[in-house]
Amino acid sequence: MDIISTEVMHILIVDDESSICELLGQYLRKKGYNITTASSGEEALEFVKNSRVNLVISDIKMPGMSGVDFLKYIKEIYPLTPVLLTTGFPTLDTAIEALKLGAYDYLTKPFHLEEISEKIKRALLNRKLEEDNVLFSKLVSLHEITKVLSSTLDLAELNAKFIHFSTKMVKADGSALMFIDPSGKLAITDTFGKDYSKEYFLKKTFLQSSKYVVKKGEPILLEQGISDLPDELLPVPADLQSFISFPLKTPSAILGVLHLVRRLGKASFSDLDLEITNVLASQASIAIENVRLYSNIRDNYLKTISAFALAVEAKDRYTHGHSENVMKYTVIVAKHLGLPDHELEQVKYAGLLHDIGKIGISEIILNKANKLTLQEFNEIKRHPELGANIIADVPFLKSLVPLVLHHHEFFNGEGYPAGISGNDIPYGARILSVADAYEAMTSNRPYRKALSQEIAFSILEKERGHQFDPEIVDAFLDILRSFNSD
Ligand SMILES: [Fe+2]
Repeated sequence: MDIISTEVMHILIVDDESSICELLGQYLRKKGYNITTASSGEEALEFVKNSRVNLVISDIKMPGMSGVDFLKYIKEIYPLTPVLLTTGFPTLDTAIEALKLGAYDYLTKPFHLEEISEKIKRALLNRKLEEDNVLFSKLVSLHEITKVLSSTLDLAELNAKFIHFSTKMVKADGSALMFIDPSGKLAITDTFGKDYSKEYFLKKTFLQSSKYVVKKGEPILLEQGISDLPDELLPVPADLQSFISFPLKTPSAILGVLHLVRRLGKASFSDLDLEITNVLASQASIAIENVRLYSNIRDNYLKTISAFALAVEAKDRYTHGHSENVMKYTVIVAKHLGLPDHELEQVKYAGLLHDIGKIGISEIILNKANKLTLQEFNEIKRHPELGANIIADVPFLKSLVPLVLHHHEFFNGEGYPAGISGNDIPYGARILSVADAYEAMTSNRPYRKALSQEIAFSILEKERGHQFDPEIVDAFLDILRSFNSD
């Protein structure tokens, strides 16, 4: 099977001897190729700037630009295009130089037409394989990148990764990411590439192209020399060869625009580049939308948590500020103990919510100034379970359940509600227990005045290994004492 037979291949022949162009051209046309001839390097250069060719056959020794210089140019902008160099004055040095510079092969005149035909076939096949290879490796990278994008939950990090990957994948020299703000205006959030700052993308060209793609919901790929531009668009700036403006959209909205630019002297972006940008932009848009929704939901939950905590304190006038203070102590000691970020966040919010179950306990009992009866105390002891039940059905808070449920367990197993001990008590709950007790001791209560810090410290030390995890008491005292000495 001839895998290159489906498309007519375009060959450019460059030679200052017109008879060679004619002879070779005629022969190759008969073989089914589309042929263009040029009589100098300069003419050939002009031609390839505006047209794509599949293969080049160029003489080395020509007046003006030499075949070797032309080869350098072609390899710079179309690295995959095979170039066969020809010469009537063969030397080993020129042959070696030509091959080093990326020529596919080297032919000496006079030619054997059959031999040329074979070399062309092989070069085109080789090119096709190389293209497939490039495409394959791009697909593999795309797959990896989309996985990374969809697993990033921080918006700034996501934007930075998206612009970085897009720029690299299509070999752009610079890029900019713009988002539509709540007032409907487009604002640049990120740029990438030396020489391409925010100021660069404030050019009217990009403002116009942004508006255009947002309005149409479709991308544009512009290059130097395009004459039939829609009225709303401005031509490509003089320092660029080509740029892409791509709308970032979800099924429900257009979020912004990604601009990718290539400087003058390089090849224009191709349809494949546009396709790659399409895959990345679609994935990134969905990921961006998800992160925004996630952080909205998260913000709302956090507001709800704070409202809950305040509701508890409204019932119990002596514990005003208790939950917030417990949260602060919890965070300080958890950081000192080196908890990873996500666990730190858990104990933080558990600190704020640990007594949420008191919402279900009678205000008379909560605010009683005299000693509680056994029955009243048993009623109060229900609050960890009540609290756990309240938050168990809230997906975002579910992970806090064990911490809220066990914040009154004792390290020696004499606490409540489960009476578990030691490492069976969740670590976060052991931290909460120390922070909660310390905060309670150092605040006024209906039945006593606040204890001094030193007395509270000595009680923590006394209960080290009994009520409290010794390691956590040590960390707590360590960090609080260091604050005192500062
Ligand atoms: Fe409690």
